[in-house]
Amino acid sequence: MAETSDIYEKVMEVARRRGFVWPSSEIYGSIAGFIDYGPLGAMMKRNVENLWRSFYVFQEGYYEIECPTVGNEAIFVASGHVKEFADKMVQCPHCGEYLRADHIAEENGIENAGTLPAEALQAALYELPCPSCKEPLGEAGVFAFNLMFQTTIGPGSQRKGYLRPETAQGIFTDFARLLRFYRDKLPFGAVQIGKSYRNEISPRQGMIRLREFSQAEAEIFVHPDRKDHPAFHRYADYTAPLLTIARQLDGREPAAITMRAAVDEGLIANEYVAYYIALTHRILTAIGVDPAKLRFRQHLIDERAHYAADCWDAEVYSGRFGWVEIVGIADRTNYDLRSHAGHSGTSMTVFIPYDEPKRVVKRRIVADMGVLGPRYRGKAKAVADALANSDPGEDGARVTVDGEEVFISADLYQVREEEVEVRGEEVMPHVIEPSYGIDRMIYVALEHSYAEEEVEGEIRKVLRLPPAVAPVQAAVFPLMSRDGLDTIAQTITERLTQCRILAQYDDSGAIGRRYRRQDEIGTPFAVTVDYDTLEDNTVTVRDRDSMEQVRIPIERLPQVLSALISGATTFRELRA
Ligand code: GAP
Repeated sequence: MAETSDIYEKVMEVARRRGFVWPSSEIYGSIAGFIDYGPLGAMMKRNVENLWRSFYVFQEGYYEIECPTVGNEAIFVASGHVKEFADKMVQCPHCGEYLRADHIAEENGIENAGTLPAEALQAALYELPCPSCKEPLGEAGVFAFNLMFQTTIGPGSQRKGYLRPETAQGIFTDFARLLRFYRDKLPFGAVQIGKSYRNEISPRQGMIRLREFSQAEAEIFVHPDRKDHPAFHRYADYTAPLLTIARQLDGREPAAITMRAAVDEGLIANEYVAYYIALTHRILTAIGVDPAKLRFRQHLIDERAHYAADCWDAEVYSGRFGWVEIVGIADRTNYDLRSHAGHSGTSMTVFIPYDEPKRVVKRRIVADMGVLGPRYRGKAKAVADALANSDPGEDGARVTVDGEEVFISADLYQVREEEVEVRGEEVMPHVIEPSYGIDRMIYVALEHSYAEEEVEGEIRKVLRLPPAVAPVQAAVFPLMSRDGLDTIAQTITERLTQCRILAQYDDSGAIGRRYRRQDEIGTPFAVTVDYDTLEDNTVTVRDRDSMEQVRIPIERLPQVLSALISGATTFRELRA
């Protein structure tokens, strides 16, 4: 087994050398927080994103949308990002390095430093050393640094814009159109996979903290009083390790519990949140995360956004970085829709019809226009409208028209009580949001699937990636690149790629070395064409993990490999 202490270096060495991940624009000196996905990394990323889609788009039925990565300032004023999307920063007085204040405190054993106010954090940092020059930070001031990248839209700096810090806002601003698309019915969801940008203060954690990264987010709009997931039965008996608030406060380990029990015992706020915790557990283990290194941690009360009803992070253990948040799952109540409705003036409610229309008594305030007309002239209609929506006292009503307060005495209007038929009510939905970081998913899948073992006196490096996310799914080797074996192997490669199996032909070097090359990039199956193939039209298929082989007729190869890749068949079943 690989030593966990330097697992990051080992994984990144393979990732760089074999074309998964490279520092971006290396020839000009790369900037921290930006990476390039090389050919294998880009392929693996697509596979991870498609696996995510297979759950959220296909299973859940939430359609995908795609919005611009540059947004008008108004969006982020409404969302609160302009005012509040900031981290606490400190500048080292000795070397001038800008540092994340809470991270330095946490690295030095101060728990939950992110929740400390600036003064308390500054006091905590006083004697701590700067991670760059090791001098004490002393009286270096802690201040807020907004993480959004600002830009201007169009020439002449007419319009301020921002690179989006999350994909979610595009879904919120499209809410009214999405509602119509889903025929005005709750619940419904929309998803978006794409780039987000955060000007992180000092990103020193490779793929974990990037300034440009990919998110896959789902925004699920639900009735505020109906948070029972219609398909909860699917995951009711699913077990996930939960680190609840109580367990964190008592210093206990997570407990494995079913989603049904977690909701019934009030550990998770509602079925929707529980459902997406289970779904996230499935997705993360499906991409290769070790279930023994996965937990769901509930946000502590002072860590949770004030508007959120409940919030859980899927955290994965990394040998280098400790527990890392990979996914956030939150019940955001109606915060986002209320805020965008208030700032934009657009309705963000859904009309929910009653089963039967109801008859209710409504109060109507009717102005005496005979008096109001001559008195207020051009403003008379506005005064009457304001009056209709006012809450009058005994003597009269105080209304505001064009910023001016006007008192209308009670003899200038009538209050009538009328029975009317009401067919339903306008409701502002609540939002359940599972938010995934794709780059972090890729890093932890690589770290957990990396293994080293000794085979015949040599170190074999292998990525035990699940076939669904491995960048190359099958390697095809001719034993010798002559006697027609190479032509057969090339034809097989073509046939497999036509069947949408990503196959790679390789005829260079000894067969053992070719296996090692494929093991290192996680190729789950290798097909070898040998001299028996000329006799009986069969090939060997070798399984990366067991290194066992089985002979298969060439014509059955696409079908057999597809079944192995999708998980419909296991290699052991094939050998039986
Ligand atoms: N809409 C909610 C939202 O954006 P978040 O917890 O800030 O929530 C969600 O981000 C996920 O995005 C995180 O769990 C993480 O996986 C990923 N993420 C956030 N910041 C990141 C960064 N600087 N680099 C890489 N991934 C990041």
